[in-house]
Amino acid sequence: ESGADEERYEIVQREVDAEILPGISTRLWTYDGSFPGPTIESQRGRHVTVAHRNELPVPTVVHLHGGRTPADSDGYPTDLVLPAGWTEPERSGGHGGHGMSDERAVVSDVEREYGFPLDQRATMLWYHDHRMDFTAPAIWRGLAGLHFVRDDVEDALDLPGGDHEVPLMIADRAFDADGQLAYPSLDSTLTGEIGVEEPYLAGVLGDVILVNGAPWPEYEVDTGLYRLRVLNGSNARHYELEAIADDGRRLLLVQIGADQGLLAAPVRHESLPIGPAERYDLLIDFGDLPVGAKVRLANRLGTGRCADVMQFKVVREGSGAPIPEMLADDLPEWDRSEAAVVRDFAFRAGRMDGRHGWLIDGLPFDPGRTDVTARHGDIEIWRLVADVHHPIHLHLVGFRVLTRGGGEPLPHDAGLKDTVSLRPGESAEIITRFDAYRGRFLFHCHNAEHEDMGMMANLEIL
Ligand code: C2O
Ligand code: CU
Ligand code: CU
Repeated sequence: ESGADEERYEIVQREVDAEILPGISTRLWTYDGSFPGPTIESQRGRHVTVAHRNELPVPTVVHLHGGRTPADSDGYPTDLVLPAGWTEPERSGGHGGHGMSDERAVVSDVEREYGFPLDQRATMLWYHDHRMDFTAPAIWRGLAGLHFVRDDVEDALDLPGGDHEVPLMIADRAFDADGQLAYPSLDSTLTGEIGVEEPYLAGVLGDVILVNGAPWPEYEVDTGLYRLRVLNGSNARHYELEAIADDGRRLLLVQIGADQGLLAAPVRHESLPIGPAERYDLLIDFGDLPVGAKVRLANRLGTGRCADVMQFKVVREGSGAPIPEMLADDLPEWDRSEAAVVRDFAFRAGRMDGRHGWLIDGLPFDPGRTDVTARHGDIEIWRLVADVHHPIHLHLVGFRVLTRGGGEPLPHDAGLKDTVSLRPGESAEIITRFDAYRGRFLFHCHNAEHEDMGMMANLEIL
């Protein structure tokens, strides 16, 4: 860390053996030796430099998800941080491998500085690997961490802080008989007919739910109000979260924020769907429970072990705090009538090079092709349609969900988002304004296997 208006962090990407399952050592790829990586806390508008050095056996790329970040630090999939001594480009191990266009030079170095102006609303961002064709296995092995942005709007609300603010990175993993992370490979599973049972087309699922890198943890709470900062950091798993006390009572999940910061007013959920890469800022009140009570954070979409996420245990009395009924007044309001352009995008399965791929408008990702050219400053409406579940993410900008399935958005679509989770056969309209930076950015499905199998495209802002 340095001067008043900027901060510097250094992260070494390296392998470690960690104990995730009791008594078993698991090899991880980490940011600075931990999974999740180190949590970074920043103030809005205070420039942050993060220097990454790659001591892993593979090239990497770092992307700050949800960051308003200039293109040269946004972690374009071919802007590599190479391992020391790296010579040959590697072409295997991921779910992609559809061949990189030669038109774009690969930018690379063993160490790279990423610069983040963070001129954006307070929220919880996350950083993760984003290398071409290899994002999913890299995240799976541990390359993910949290990055908070704070601002005055948030500070003025006096929300629960300290140990009453709890980040929860939820991610499923599978382990092999030796306790190593099991990531299924590859090509044999990708040659079948579309629609025929192919195990990894839906993405890679684990059967152990980790929260902040630990399986089904227990967190001790008092009878006060807590703020849960939830990220679905899973490659492909969707959850529907609910909080159930051991006397059978359901605790409300009071949503106060979305991917891109605070809502205007809280939205109360009995259960809350969360797709890959989505974040929710939640308040939960343990005030009606006796000391000794337990509250299970459960996943309604999971069966067996995947129905449990974690547990809270009430261990002492705490002082309650009211839930603010007015939150942020700085949400952008874009009107349909202001849109300069309306675009349509279909997220569907298809053939690519004779194999199964996940495509946007029939095409797999190609770093040499510009798919969308937008004018800086324009408001645009994008109409998205999905064949199966696809959590769609735009880099650089937040957006509002205007419609879902041709009707009103759902309660959890509230606020400013950067990822919208489309259900099978569903469409949605989103509206945004390209008012941040010019340059080349991405949009893609955040099912990490779908992304590696081609469901990504280039957005050039001029
Ligand atoms: Cu979370 Cu393009 O990524
Ligand atoms: Cu992103
Ligand atoms: Cu998808």
